[in-house]
Amino acid sequence: MATQQVSPVRVEREDDIAFVVIDNPPVNATSQPVREGLLREISALADDAGVSTIVLIGAGKTFIAGADIREFDRPLRDPQVPAIIAAIEKCEKPVVAAIHGAALGGGFEIALACDDRIATPDAVVGLPEVTLGVIPGAGGTQRLPRLTGVATAIELITSGRRVKAPEAQRLGIIDGVVSGDIREAARRHARHLAKRKRRLSALFVPVSSDEALKKAIENANKGARARTAVKEAIEAIQNSERLPFGEACVVERASFQRLRESEESAALRYLFFAEREAARIPDIADAVARPIAAVGVLGAGTMGSGIAVSFLDAGLPVTLIEQDQEALDRGLERIHGIYDRGVQGGRMTSQEAEQRLHQLRPTLDLKQLVQSDLVIEAVFEDMAIKQSVFRELDAVLKGGAILASNTSYLNIDALASVTSRPADVLGLHFFSPANIMRLLEVVRGAATAGDVLTTALAVAKTIRKLPVIARVGEGFIGNRIYSAYRIQCELMLEEGAYPDEVDSAMTAFGLAMGPFAVGDLSGLDISWRTRQRLAPTRDPKARFPQVLDRLCEAGRFGQKTGAGWYRYPDGARRGTVDPEVNAMIDKVSAEKGITRRSFTAEEIQWRALATMINEAALLLAEGIAARPSDVDVVLVNGYGFPPQKGGPLFWASRRPREQVFQALDVLAAATGYGFQRGGVEGVIENLQKRE
Ligand code: 3HC
Ligand code: NAI
Repeated sequence: MATQQVSPVRVEREDDIAFVVIDNPPVNATSQPVREGLLREISALADDAGVSTIVLIGAGKTFIAGADIREFDRPLRDPQVPAIIAAIEKCEKPVVAAIHGAALGGGFEIALACDDRIATPDAVVGLPEVTLGVIPGAGGTQRLPRLTGVATAIELITSGRRVKAPEAQRLGIIDGVVSGDIREAARRHARHLAKRKRRLSALFVPVSSDEALKKAIENANKGARARTAVKEAIEAIQNSERLPFGEACVVERASFQRLRESEESAALRYLFFAEREAARIPDIADAVARPIAAVGVLGAGTMGSGIAVSFLDAGLPVTLIEQDQEALDRGLERIHGIYDRGVQGGRMTSQEAEQRLHQLRPTLDLKQLVQSDLVIEAVFEDMAIKQSVFRELDAVLKGGAILASNTSYLNIDALASVTSRPADVLGLHFFSPANIMRLLEVVRGAATAGDVLTTALAVAKTIRKLPVIARVGEGFIGNRIYSAYRIQCELMLEEGAYPDEVDSAMTAFGLAMGPFAVGDLSGLDISWRTRQRLAPTRDPKARFPQVLDRLCEAGRFGQKTGAGWYRYPDGARRGTVDPEVNAMIDKVSAEKGITRRSFTAEEIQWRALATMINEAALLLAEGIAARPSDVDVVLVNGYGFPPQKGGPLFWASRRPREQVFQALDVLAAATGYGFQRGGVEGVIENLQKRE
C-alpha cells in the first residue's frame, strides 16, 4: 500500500485564529515540501472567511532555521521563498510570526514579511547568509533596512550576527518579547491585534548618517569570511535607498542565485556540515556522558590560563594549580588581564567578570583537585615532566575523574600508561588563545573509554568549542600537517625563496598569516625543541632544513626576543625583512651546494598546498583523522586556512586532477629521498562522492 506523504505544514484552528504549524525536524528548514505547504495553506487561509488572523509558528525546538542548505547544490525547486512572502503580503489578514528558538535566513525573511513579530526572550533572529557565501535572497536586504536604516542593516547582514530577542526588540526588528509558552502568547497577541496589515515593503528607509554608513561599510570589509558575499550584500542593502522595492528584490535574488552556485558558497556549506559531522563517533553513539561539575587545570601558563577562562566563561568552577607562587601569580595576572580587556571592550560587565572570577580557585596544593571531575594538564611540553605530573594526579583524583592533556605533539598512550586509569585519559588539545579559538582536538588514546569521549564532546559544547576527534600520532591532525608544511616552506628558502616571499604568497592565497610570521609569533624555540626531540628518529639521508636551527643558535626566537625570521625593532608586532637572515639563508644554500633560483607566488602556493594535501592523505590512511572533512575543519579553524576555500582537501577536490598530481610530483622531486606519497586520489574521490 502506498503511504501518503504527510505535509510538514499543518493548520490548527482556534476560533478565528489559524495557526500555521511548520513541523520539519530537526530545525524546520524551508525544504521544498515546507515551501509548498506554506504557500498552499496561506493562500487557502487568505480566502477563508472564518479566519481573521494567521499565526506562523514552529513545532519542536525552533521557528524556522532558514533555507535547507542541502538543496543549494542543485537548482532550487518551486515554489521558492519569495513566492511565500508574496502570498503573506498579498493576504489581507494580519499574519503574525511567533518565534521561539531561531528565525534565521529565509526563516527571518518570512517573519519580516509578516505584519507582527513576537519572540520568546531566548529566541535569536538574524540573516547569517554571508557566512554561507550568499546574501539573503528573499527580500531580507530590503525589508531589514526599512526597520533599522541602511547602516545597521549592513552591520547585521554582513556579520551574520544572531541577535537575541531583547536586542532585536530594541533595534525594532521584532515587535515584542513575550514570556511563557509561545503559542499561548501568540494567541493572546492575536486576540488584541489591530486588524491591519503592516507591510514593510511599503515603508521608507530611515536615513543613516554618512558617518554611520561609512563606519558600517569599513567594519564589514574588515576580516570578512566571504568577501564576495559581503561586497554584494552591501550593494544590495544600499539598493533599498536607490531602487524601487520590487526592482531591488529582483537584483537581490539574482545575486543570491549567482553566489549560491559559487565555489566560495559551496566551500562554506561544506564546512557547515563538516563541523557538525566532526563530532560524530559512530562506534560510541550509545555512551552516556559523565557529569562534569568541577574542573581542574594544571599549569597557569599561556594555555592553562586560557583554558581556565574557557570554563569560567561557561560558569564552571575551576581549580588552578601551579608549581610555585610566582608562576601562579603570573597566571592570575593573565586571567585578570583577559577579563579586564573583556570589560573594557564592552564584551561583558564588570559584574559578570567578577562573577566568573569568583569561581576560580588558585592554589599550589594538588590535593585540592580531589573534587574535580575533569583535570586538564597544561604544563611544559616534556614527556618526563608530563608523566610525573600524571602519576601525581592519578594518586590524587577521585575514581571516575577524567584526566586530559593539552599536549601539542606527545603520545597520549604513553601518558595514560603511567596511570591506573588509562581508560579515563585522553587529549584535549586547545589552540592559542584558548579562550578564543573554537577548535578543540579531542585525542582518543588506545584505551580511552567511550563515555570519556562522549563526556569530552559534551564539555566542548558547554564551553562552546568545536571538537574534532583525532587518534594518537605525533602532532595529531593539525600540528602534524602544519609541521610538514612549515618544513617544506623552509626547504623552499634553501632553494631560493625568502621568508617574506613565502609569507606573502600564502597570505595572497588567503591564509591569515604566512608560516614564518606565525613561527615568530609563537616562538621558534618550540619548533627547535621538537626538532631536537625528533632528531634521533630522522633518517640522516633525508633532506632537512637548517636555517631555523641557525636562527635559534643565534638567540633569535621570534617576536619575544625582538628577532626571528624577521626583525621586530622596539617591540614592533609586524616584522621587517632582515638582510642578516637572508644572508644566513644564502649561506646555508651555498653550504648545501644548492644553486638558488627564484619562485613565483603560484609555485610557492602549490608546493605548500601539495604538502598539506599529501600529509593529510597519509594521516587519513593511518586513521589519525576519521574523515577528510575533519582535516579541513581543523585547518580552517585552527590554522588560519581561508574558510571560503573550504580547507586544503576541499580546495584540491575542486582543482583539475592533473594539476594536483603534477604539484605532488614537483613536491616529491624537490623533497627527494624518503618522500612518502599519500593516497591523495582516494581522498579526493571520497570528497567528491559526498557532493
Ligand atoms: N539546512 C539543512 N540542515 C540544517 C540547517 C539548514 N539550514 N540548519 C541546521 N541543519 C541540520 C544540521 O546539519 C544538524 O543536522 P545533523 O543532526 O544531521 O547533524 C541539525 O540540523 C541540527 O543542527 P545543529 O546541530 O546546528 O543544532 P543546534 O540546535 O545547535 O542549532 C540552529 C540550531 C541555530 C538553527 C543551527 O542549526 C543553525 O544556525 N543553522 C543554520 C541557519 C542558517 O544559516 N540559515 C540560513 C540559511 S541560508 C538562507 O536561508 C537563504 C535565504 O536567504 C533564501
Ligand atoms: P607555558 O610555559 O606558558 O606554561 C606552562 C606552565 O606550567 C608554567 O607556568 C609552569 O610553571 C607550569 N608547570 C610546570 N610544571 C608544573 C607542575 N608540575 N605543576 C604545576 N604547574 C607546572 O606553556 P604553554 O604554552 O602554556 O604550554 C603548555 C602546554 O600546552 C604544552 O604541552 C604545550 O605544548 C601545549 N600547547 C601550547 C600551545 C601554545 O600555543 N603555547 C598551543 C596548544 C598546546
